[in-house]
Amino acid sequence: AEKLTVQIQAHPPAPTLYHQLLLSCKVSGDPGPQEFLWDKEGSHKPLQRGPSSVLHFHSFNESHLGTYTCTVTGSRGTAVATYNLWIDDLVQKVFVFPQETKTSHVLVRAQPGQPLQNLTLCLRSYTDLTRPHSLFSYATKAQANEVLLFKPKPSAYQFHIGGKSVTFTIPPGRAESEHVCASWESATGIVRFWLDGRAWPRKGLQKGYRVGAEAAIVLGQEQDSFGGGFDAQQSFVGEISSVYMWDLELSGSGVKAAMEDTPYETPIFGWRNFPYQAVGEVYLKP
Ligand SMILES: *[C@@H]1O[C@H](CO)[C@@H](O)[C@H](O)[C@H]1NC(C)=O
Ligand SMILES: *[C@@H]1O[C@H](CO)[C@@H](O)[C@H](O)[C@H]1NC(C)=O
Repeated sequence: AEKLTVQIQAHPPAPTLYHQLLLSCKVSGDPGPQEFLWDKEGSHKPLQRGPSSVLHFHSFNESHLGTYTCTVTGSRGTAVATYNLWIDDLVQKVFVFPQETKTSHVLVRAQPGQPLQNLTLCLRSYTDLTRPHSLFSYATKAQANEVLLFKPKPSAYQFHIGGKSVTFTIPPGRAESEHVCASWESATGIVRFWLDGRAWPRKGLQKGYRVGAEAAIVLGQEQDSFGGGFDAQQSFVGEISSVYMWDLELSGSGVKAAMEDTPYETPIFGWRNFPYQAVGEVYLKP
C-alpha cells in the first residue's frame, strides 16, 4: 500500500498582516476518513482536532507567528508535518541590483484583496542611472502599466495609473538616495507626490477608475505584459528599499512614518512584512 504522507500549505503562500490566512494539511496515500490534530510549538493545548484539514486565521497577526504541526491519523497510520509561519522583516536591508539585465527583478508575492479606489506607494531608491528606468511595476492582465513608478530622467518621476501618467519634476543632481511616495484617489483622480517627505503640488488622472486587484508586482524591471516583457534599457541598477503599498491615501505624517519604516497604517505589503522572490541577480544586503 502507498505510504501515508502529509504536507502543510499556506493560502496565500505569503501571509499579509490582518488578512485571512489558511493553513491546509494535504494528505496523500490514504483515501480517508482522517482525523487532523493541529498544534503550535510552545502552546500546551491543541489548537484544533477533528475531520477538518484546514486551520483558519480570520485576521492573521504577529501573535500567530510560530511553528505549526499537523498530525493526521487515517486507516494507514499516522503522519506529521510542520510549518514555520514567519514574516520577512527587511528593515535595515536593501535590494541591490548590481547590473543592467533584462531578467533580474524582485517579484512581490502579495496583492490587494479587491480592486483599489485609493492607494499609496512608497519606496527609497539610490542610483546614478541617467537613462529611463522603472522602480515599481504593477501589471494586470488588462493593463501592463496599471500602477507604475518610473523615472524617465534624473529630474523627473512619472506615476502611472491604468496606463495614463503624470510627471513630477524634481531638482536634478542630488547624488543621494531618494524617498518617494505617490498616492491616488479614484473619487477625484488626485495624485499626490512626496520627495523626501516634502509634498509636491497635486495633479490628477483617471478619476473614477478602479485599479485591478489581480496583479503581477515587480521591482527593478518594467512589465510590458503581465509578469514579463522586460527591457534592459528600462531596468534598474542600484539599490531599492522601504517599499510599501497601502489601499488608502496616506497623510503627510503617514509619509514621514513610512520614511522611518515605522508606518502606523497597515499596508497591503511593506518592508516589515515583505513577501518577495528575488529572480536572477538581485541581492538583499544590510
Ligand atoms: C491577533 O488575533 C487574535 C485572534 O486570533 C486576537 O485575539 C488578538 O487580539 C490579535 N492581536 C493583535 C495584536 O491584533
Ligand atoms: C477612498 O477614499 C475616499 C476619500 O478619502 C473615501 O471616501 C472612500 O471611502 C475610500 N474608498 C475606499 C474603498 O476605501
